[in-house]
Amino acid sequence: MCGIVAYIGSKNAPNVLIDGLTKLEYRGYDSAGIAVINKDKIDVYRSVGKLINLKNMLDEKKPVSNIGIGHTRWATHGKPSYENAHPHSSFGISLVHNGIIENYLDIKRNLADKGYKFESETDTEVIAHLIHSNYKDDIFEAVKVSVKQIKGSFALAVISVNEPDKIILARHDSPLVIGISDGENFAASDIPALISYTNKFIFLEENDIAILTKNSVTCYDFEGKKTDREVKIVDINPVMAEKAGYRHFMQKEIFEQPRAIIDTIRGKYSLENGELLLDELKSIDIKKYRRVNIVACGTSWHAGLVGKFYIEKFAKIPVEVDIASEYRYRDTIIDEETLFIAISQSGETADTIAAMRLAKSRGAGILSICNVIGSTIPRESDATFFTHAGPEIGVASTKAFTTQVIALLMLALYFAQEKQTLNHVEIRNILTEIVKLPEKMEEALKLDSHIEEMAKDFKSFPSFLYLGRNVNYPIALEGALKLKEISYIHAEGYPAGEMKHGPIALIDKNMPVFIIATDSKVYDKVLANIQEVKARDGIVIATVTEGNKDVEKFTEYCIKLPAAVEELSVFLNSIVIQLLAYHISAELGLDVDQPRNLAKSVTVE
Ligand code: F6R
Repeated sequence: MCGIVAYIGSKNAPNVLIDGLTKLEYRGYDSAGIAVINKDKIDVYRSVGKLINLKNMLDEKKPVSNIGIGHTRWATHGKPSYENAHPHSSFGISLVHNGIIENYLDIKRNLADKGYKFESETDTEVIAHLIHSNYKDDIFEAVKVSVKQIKGSFALAVISVNEPDKIILARHDSPLVIGISDGENFAASDIPALISYTNKFIFLEENDIAILTKNSVTCYDFEGKKTDREVKIVDINPVMAEKAGYRHFMQKEIFEQPRAIIDTIRGKYSLENGELLLDELKSIDIKKYRRVNIVACGTSWHAGLVGKFYIEKFAKIPVEVDIASEYRYRDTIIDEETLFIAISQSGETADTIAAMRLAKSRGAGILSICNVIGSTIPRESDATFFTHAGPEIGVASTKAFTTQVIALLMLALYFAQEKQTLNHVEIRNILTEIVKLPEKMEEALKLDSHIEEMAKDFKSFPSFLYLGRNVNYPIALEGALKLKEISYIHAEGYPAGEMKHGPIALIDKNMPVFIIATDSKVYDKVLANIQEVKARDGIVIATVTEGNKDVEKFTEYCIKLPAAVEELSVFLNSIVIQLLAYHISAELGLDVDQPRNLAKSVTVE
């Protein structure tokens, strides 16, 4: 949801800003802009549409400056337009904002009474004028006073023409990270924007204001009291945020999955002893909890649904899985005997954060599964299992999903170990299968060209049904979501057993039905579902386990996957649904990595 970036130093700021925005474009891409201080004025450059439009404008105008701020927008207040694009300005003050100001209409009325004129429909322009109205001769003081007058969420970067040697940053409920280097400093919504310049970061905390100069970073709270913020070294290889020869980030990220799984489980088990080594979870005494609430949004919610199977099967703890935006508004039963598990790739999803805070306020233990170090969710959790997927740039989640699922499996085994619902031999047997998984995923990825060919036959169908059972039912949901997101084809995911209760009415010769039929204890039931679809002329696409001879009698679109225990078949089936969605979108010539209307990180409710 919007990306912001700021720079002060001796490089040419517009170049650094554009470079940073390029890495943040996954957060929003309907307009973009930068503001730089140029002697005694601020020059603002804005353009509608993708960042390339702004880049072209700057290539032509060639602005030069050592200090500036930049923004890539995902519209909330006001449609994508030149006027609504950031930065917004007020008499020598410019700012960029990520978040939503809830009381902007009240503030706007007051400012209008004082004579301020508004050129945009945004909540952000209101903050620019508010800061100006509070400005005497110190931009830090003006921001400090203003942030107390605004309600909502914000990450702000502010510059003033009168003080060209500093940038003021402020954060409340929206992420903001400072990058530190020699004689220059940076700020951005997310680390990938800055990782090619530095590996030293300060993660601003809730209600922090910071002053950034070329040679210093000073942090305060909203009362103006200095705060100590630790400088952390982050080891992300900058190449991880590049396409590395792939056509799209999504394609690269699909292919990175075996590596991401290895990185996520590395050092967390002893195969020899049949033991899980999750030191980071030591503060969670699982025996204390009578129930688990898993809460997340979108794809992370689908991972949570798989996690329910694992935790109930191995650790014998009842699990409820909720969509965060629902959980937070119903009369949820939460108490000290509830373990709340937040799953979030970004760690910044507004609804998941709100649900987590609600559970915390009721005394639940808070555990999170997250891919972004320093983000809000792990910071506010009692313990975190970090996935090591690396930066995920494609808006449609792929490697973040499978690493969340493996994290949930490791978690379930750890709980089983602590509760002694599995013995070490049983744990070793499952770990032995997990260790073989990345190789099987590599095998599944070899189906890429086969699936690419299939995609050509399916790109023109208006609607799809995805069916799965048991642990693969969430993969059917995920398959439908992937297809919708990036190819704009309508798709629904269903538990296969539910088909007869409604969706079967949709099936005719124009309805492709993707059915997960890999080996499982419900295989015979799924085979019956395939026959039911065929009996109604539906087109079946099916995943099966190598050696299967039944399903090819019903369809030419039979995708054969390496044999795996049912709990691990989800990883192989995930690769197939991801590749199918990817190739259909690519065949249609759509913007795979930045599908319309979406943003990677949903930091507003
Ligand atoms: C879909 C997708 C989204 C996210 C959802 C939650 O491909 O990426 O559905 O899964 O917005 O995001 P996180 O995991 O960052 O909380």
